[in-house]
Amino acid sequence: MSDAQVHIPEHIRNVPDGTFGDLWLPMPSEPFSPCDDLSCRRSRRDRKIPAARSTSSTIPSDEDLAWRRWLLGHHASFGVWRLLCQALSDSAGHGECDPDTRPDVHRTLTIAAELFDVYSALLLYSASCTPEIYAAAVRPRMVACHPAFSGTWSRDYEQVRVLLRPSVPTCEPGVRLKRAVKFNRLVHMAVAKRLVPDGNSLLRDSGQAGSSPTDGERDLFDTFFRTRRATICVHEFTGQLIDRTELILSDLAVYPVGTRYGRDDLDRFQAELRGHFERLDDLTGELMTKGRATCPRQNRQHSPRP
Ligand code: HEM
Ligand SMILES: [Zn+2]
Ligand SMILES: [Zn+2]
Repeated sequence: MSDAQVHIPEHIRNVPDGTFGDLWLPMPSEPFSPCDDLSCRRSRRDRKIPAARSTSSTIPSDEDLAWRRWLLGHHASFGVWRLLCQALSDSAGHGECDPDTRPDVHRTLTIAAELFDVYSALLLYSASCTPEIYAAAVRPRMVACHPAFSGTWSRDYEQVRVLLRPSVPTCEPGVRLKRAVKFNRLVHMAVAKRLVPDGNSLLRDSGQAGSSPTDGERDLFDTFFRTRRATICVHEFTGQLIDRTELILSDLAVYPVGTRYGRDDLDRFQAELRGHFERLDDLTGELMTKGRATCPRQNRQHSPRP
């Protein structure tokens, strides 16, 4: 929880047994640290998602695969939420308009829509195990951490929700974003229903739903998902997200997700999971190299249109 500048330690790299280290993120309201180090920038910017490859020759048990996907999918989601905060604050204050008047803001809204789709793909990836394996290997770990463990304790998603609240404009890219948000809710509900057929969350079962999370609960959520907070530069952030995307793509190349939800739109989307992850590198590059990679909350360079 230090806010001192840190350098991402080596253990973040993929190690032979396929485990990965802690995720380092700034607090959602904190900007990335300035970084003029060319070698830092170059080593990250030049990286492209390589062809998928197998990470391990040993076949994981269903339980290990489920747990690894839960953790890896959440890490990648946290990175995507940070990007979403950037995109949403970059396009904040954009009212209704002619589609041709603000191409920069429209592009950012389109990126936000694509990022929501990446998050939807990550939900399907994280939650691709059977309900039985989920009940045996994933849920009990959260219960052991806290009986009311909940996604509402995520400080990064909390920020996404705050930034989504101002109305999304009704121009074409705004409508696309709205559709992606709606589809994301549908995916989340479908995942919840499939893995927990009675649909109840731990938070609801514990009778604590409705109260806002405390800092202690937010810290617990971070700790459970092996996420540590520190000041890092944008290249260190991007590098971690790309590392995890590579791991997900390698995993999917060996163990494709075969779950079906019995809904055409969802099953079609699921058949294209890898395509969404492959887009992430370019989306990140485009969003973060516009010189806007600062504090999402303070960075409002697009003033409201009259
Ligand atoms: C697959 C990975 C998952 C992720 C990344 C995830 C993420 C989240 C997030 C960020 C929230 C807060 C939403 C907000 O504040 O608007 C949330 C809430 C919720 N999630 Fe999930 N979720 C996942 C899986 C599940 C599963 C398997 C269930 C099954 C019960 C579930 C049930 C719920 C419910 C009912 C809520 C509302 C708040 C609560 O009662 O805890 N989610 N989730
Ligand atoms: Zn517009
Ligand atoms: Zn850097």
